[in-house]
Order: sequence, then structure tokens, then C-alpha cells
Amino acid sequence: MIQNTHPASYTLTRPDDWHIHLRDGTALATVVPHTAAQFARAIVMPNLRPPVTTASEAMSYKARIKAAVPAGMSFEPLMTLYLTDNMSPDEILRAKDAGVVALKLYPAGATTNSDAGVTDIRKTYKTLEAMQRAGLLLLVHGEVTSPEIDLFDREAVFIDQQLIPLRKDFPELKIVMEHITTREASLYVASETSHLGATITAQHLLYNRNAIFTGGVRPHYYCLPVLKRETHRLALMDAATSGNPRFFLGTDSAPHAAHLKEHAVGCAGCYTAHAAMELYAAAFDSVGKMDKLEGFASFFGADFYGLPRNTDTITLKRETWTTPESFPFGDALLKPLAGGETLAWQMI
Ligand code: NCD
Ligand code: ZN
Ligand code: ZN
Repeated sequence: MIQNTHPASYTLTRPDDWHIHLRDGTALATVVPHTAAQFARAIVMPNLRPPVTTASEAMSYKARIKAAVPAGMSFEPLMTLYLTDNMSPDEILRAKDAGVVALKLYPAGATTNSDAGVTDIRKTYKTLEAMQRAGLLLLVHGEVTSPEIDLFDREAVFIDQQLIPLRKDFPELKIVMEHITTREASLYVASETSHLGATITAQHLLYNRNAIFTGGVRPHYYCLPVLKRETHRLALMDAATSGNPRFFLGTDSAPHAAHLKEHAVGCAGCYTAHAAMELYAAAFDSVGKMDKLEGFASFFGADFYGLPRNTDTITLKRETWTTPESFPFGDALLKPLAGGETLAWQMI
């Protein structure tokens, strides 16, 4: 049978987003409905100000998120804690009991709201031991922060200096390298056989670093880790569409008020939640691999986390539409990635 690699519509098991920033307060009213419209569950990042560092804070944050889910939609936020140098192993037990699924490692200063992050991974070893015993996952923002390391090399250096030794010391700890951006990361994850997974964003599949500089500085294409050169984008496309179950969907949708991105020191983060599946569909369709989207978006993340797969479906239709240029965001505006552009796929 000849497979139709350019279908007019595509129905798949409802996907999950394994990396999202929902923020807090009035922002929730804008961003939660976008994510809940597409995804059944999402791994909610804890980098609020101040960060979510206790099980009880995670539970009240979860209640605020659930209160922002529109009537008639069902959406399950999966909560995480922000790992710090001095988090007590007892908090891991409370987190496990409360249903928290993972801890997030931000090297101090690596990205948005990471000043409270880990200064030296060895300081967290007692906590990591407790996580390994309790079966909580470790999610990592995999970039070194040393100013002498070139910004574009920080992910590859993190793998060599931090991740390889960490995996040796904690072979039973499940680790997700979040938002991978390089050929090195995709090869490293593929070279391991278990306990190591990676999320990939839509923007790192669709764009290379030229997008940030086309005709001038374009702050809405700036996120961390920053977009890389074309060879890396191609390697990420290979990984995402390979059917290897250790690569799965994580949008890293990261809303910031537009005036804070269009700024002398603009914030890092791309907002994609309003059209997440449409953007991933564009990427997979560009290489004739729509048939690989369901595993990546709907199966592999749940399998890696040891959670059941979803049973309902969504449908994407090949029908052009123009995405909104902005959304209200509290008192400010939120400008999404590719705002005002035409997309070829639409979720119906
Ligand atoms: C994220 C944010 O804004 O919270 N920004 C980003 O550029 N990806 C933080 C992160 O995931 O590193
Ligand atoms: Zn990050
Ligand atoms: Zn993120």
C-alpha cells in the first residue's frame, strides 16, 4: 500500500505537553485555555517568582490553574518543584505523596527566573538520591552558565561537564533533557538506551538562528536555549520524526508581556500554546512525516513518565488560517511566535 504522506486531515490520540510555562495571576486566564484546548495534560514549570519549591505551594498553584480551565474542557496540570541547593530530601517525600511528578533543575542564572537555581549539582545529591528512590523525574535546563563559554555551545558543554557524570552517579534516575537544540544533544539522547529522554519545541524544529535576525532583531524568536544553525535544526527534525520513543513533545511555550520582549534587554521565551499542534504539524508535514506525529505528541511522553496514554482524539485539518497577532495578557499584550502569519494546519 502506498502511504499518503500529505493527508488532508489527521486524527490522532489527544496529545500532552511535557514542558509548559503557565505563569500565575491574570496570565492564567489567557494561557490555560489555549493549552487545555489542545492537550490533555501538561508538565507545568515551577519558575514563578518566587519559585515553587514545596509540595504545598505546588498544590495551591495547581488549584489556581484548574480554576482557569474553561467549563467543559478537561485538563490535568502535572506539577513540578524547582530544585534548589538546599531542598530537603523530606520535601521529596511530601512531593511524592502530593502527586508531584518531577523536579526541575535550572543551573543558577541559565534562563528566565533561574536566580534561585542550583549553583553546584553536588549540593543536591541527597535530594537526587531521594528522588531516585521515590521515582520522581529530574527535568533539566541543560546549559552551562559560565560566561566564558560561547552562548551557542552551552548545551553541548553541559552534556559533557554535567549530564554524563550525573547519569553515572544516578543510573536509575529518569532524566529529561528539556528543549534540546543541538545535534550533540540529539545524538547523546539517542545513544542511551533508557532513563534519558528529551523534549523538543516547535520553534527549534521550524526555525534556525537566522529567524532572530531577519531584517533586524526579532525578539519574538528569542528563547533559551537560543535557536541554532541549520545543521542542528535538521538533526532535531530527524530525532523528532524518527519514531525513537525517547524524543517527545514539549512546547516550552513561555509567555512574556510583549513590551518586556521588545526591550533593550528582552526576555527569553516564545509563546506557542495558541497553535502548538498546528506548528508541530507544519514541521512534521514539511518532511512528509505526519504519520510520526502521534507517537511524538501523544504516546512517548506518557510512556517515559510511566503514565497512561490518553484515549480520546483530536483532528488536524489541512486548512490555512491566520494566527492572531496578540492576546490580552493581564494589563499587557502577549505576542505569539509567528503571530499574524498563515499556517497550513488547523485543529478542529
Ligand atoms: C523560559 C521562561 O520564559 O520561563 N524561557 C525560555 O526562553 N525558554 C524558561 C526556560 O524554559 O528556560
Ligand atoms: Zn529552560
Ligand atoms: Zn521552559
